Amino acid sequence: MYTIAVIPGDGTGPEVVREGLKVLEAAAGAEGFRYQTQEFDFGGERYLSTGEILPDSAVEELRAFDAIYLGAIGHPGVKPGILEKGILLRLRFELDQYINLRPVKLYPNVPTPLRDKGPEDIDFVVVRENTEGLYAGAGGCLKRGTPDEVAVQESINTRKGVERCLRYAFEYTRKRHQDMTLTLCGKTNVLTYAFDLWERVFHELGAAEYPDIKREYAHVDATCMWMVKNPEWFDVIVTDNMFGDIITDLGAMIQGGMGIAAGGNINPEGVSMFEPIGGSAPKYTGQNVINPMAAIGACQLMLATLGEDRAASRVEQAIAHALTRIDDLGAGRMGYSTSEVGDMVAEAVAKAT
Ligand code: IPM
Ligand code: MN
Repeated sequence: MYTIAVIPGDGTGPEVVREGLKVLEAAAGAEGFRYQTQEFDFGGERYLSTGEILPDSAVEELRAFDAIYLGAIGHPGVKPGILEKGILLRLRFELDQYINLRPVKLYPNVPTPLRDKGPEDIDFVVVRENTEGLYAGAGGCLKRGTPDEVAVQESINTRKGVERCLRYAFEYTRKRHQDMTLTLCGKTNVLTYAFDLWERVFHELGAAEYPDIKREYAHVDATCMWMVKNPEWFDVIVTDNMFGDIITDLGAMIQGGMGIAAGGNINPEGVSMFEPIGGSAPKYTGQNVINPMAAIGACQLMLATLGEDRAASRVEQAIAHALTRIDDLGAGRMGYSTSEVGDMVAEAVAKAT
């Protein structure tokens, strides 16, 4: 019996989570596993009415679940940064979800802005470090608001943090078993301390323990270029937190947009959290027009991480099937409502193999 904590969150988060849970139920019915969910109301509304962002007890409570399923965090009535840092980043850090796993896969019939590229070209995975780098919050400011102001924001890269991320990426590349190629995305020509560490550990670990995996290196700027020009070159990309944040938005665009991009915040030894990578899209709240596919994709990643591989594969087939019937993934332009898309995928889950 799996225990799943559900945080629907803000804006359209609850609407897309509802469809993801529909699909989860269909997958459980088809594969015969059992689960129970418990909902948590963290987000902008709760903060505005109680002043509380995330109680300390919540973090401890969430630790006890098998997985966390998150809709979206971000509320137009709350200053940017408060909820993102107070909920999303805090959970990533305190639950030590040191991997952010973001597949970039173009399904058939999904429009990509890349001319002449198709599903056979766009299919790779980004492994983003998720607890360190520029996100660690190291730094400070002096004389703020004066002409002498100084602002410093440091990138923290620990041997342990870098090594565990690289190890996960090597293992993932091996398990994925496609081109058996792991590309380190960095900036060794300028960030000569941080990426010197990344590069050394990458080659040490690779040579000693992963001789079957081909090692490539690309600077982050070149990575952006290749993601557009030759996305077929990539199998698995591993990178730090900030670069991973940036290149996965580019990745989301080439795979069809935020309506479809999903990610997992993974602690391989603890509890992981799955989310659509887009935001709360407040202007569409309650209209039943937002695309729930990214949240459904997050559900698929959750099943795969829980070890329910057959259920995950069913969901993936069902997503692919539903996408052949939807020609435009944009909110309000799908030709189907949010709940109709959820129904379509849930039905296809039952029929998949
Ligand atoms: C993401 C988001 C977050 C990040 C924000 C909301 C803090 O952009 O999940 O990619 O920067 O990690
Ligand atoms: Mn981002």
